[in-house]
Amino acid sequence: MSEITIAIDGYSSCGKSTLAKALANHLNYIYVDSGAMYRAVTLHLMNTGLLKDGHFIHQQVIDELSRVDIRFQYNKEQGKSETYLNGENVEKDIRTLEISRQVSAISAIKEVRDKLVSIQQEMGAQGGVVMDGRDIGTVVFPNAEVKLFMVAGKTIRAKRRYMELKEKGENLTLEEVKKSIARRDNLDMNREISPLQKAQDAVEIDNTELDEKEQFELALKIINEKVRSLQTTNT
Ligand code: DC
Repeated sequence: MSEITIAIDGYSSCGKSTLAKALANHLNYIYVDSGAMYRAVTLHLMNTGLLKDGHFIHQQVIDELSRVDIRFQYNKEQGKSETYLNGENVEKDIRTLEISRQVSAISAIKEVRDKLVSIQQEMGAQGGVVMDGRDIGTVVFPNAEVKLFMVAGKTIRAKRRYMELKEKGENLTLEEVKKSIARRDNLDMNREISPLQKAQDAVEIDNTELDEKEQFELALKIINEKVRSLQTTNT
């Protein structure tokens, strides 16, 4: 069977990227972090002064989009792919709290989504890709062979994110992290265009009680079963 497309969607801080990277590694597929692309656009708008404290002029953002070039490049030493914005490695800069605060507003803009979705579709056109985000199974690859939808309890998500931020030296309380995750979920689920929703044919993985290895094994089982059933249908 030729290489398939695996779409992973879900709420913020549900472990989507951890799972997507592990699967891509195991299957020797390309991994695309679509959230990194929305973060890179947000960073560009902040750097150019067009986005300040959550405020922007819609038309200015649209006009600026032609000057945004986003690519991923594999870093052999780190063993992972990194995000480049207009030729510059921004992998670290796009992971700040400030970007997390502002990215949902920018990702709600239709023209931003149109541009990024078309790049994402090109990246996955040949199959052999694992892509994670919010609209991968619903909009970017509605025909993906495997669609996973990740969920986890609110407290465990906040705790995981809190630990991540602590490691980066960010000083937020657990309650603040909880609030920030809830705010982002709310914006991502309630935006007009391509809101976060589970595709009808997605398989839900609740990883509240699972560690990384258990989650990986469960996902691989789902993928293998799906591939087997596709092979049976094709013969
Ligand atoms: O996955 P992440 O937390 O890095 O994503 C950052 C933001 O980008 C998220 O809050 C919503 C937006 N996003 C989106 O709208 N569609 C995607 N496919 C991926 C991310």
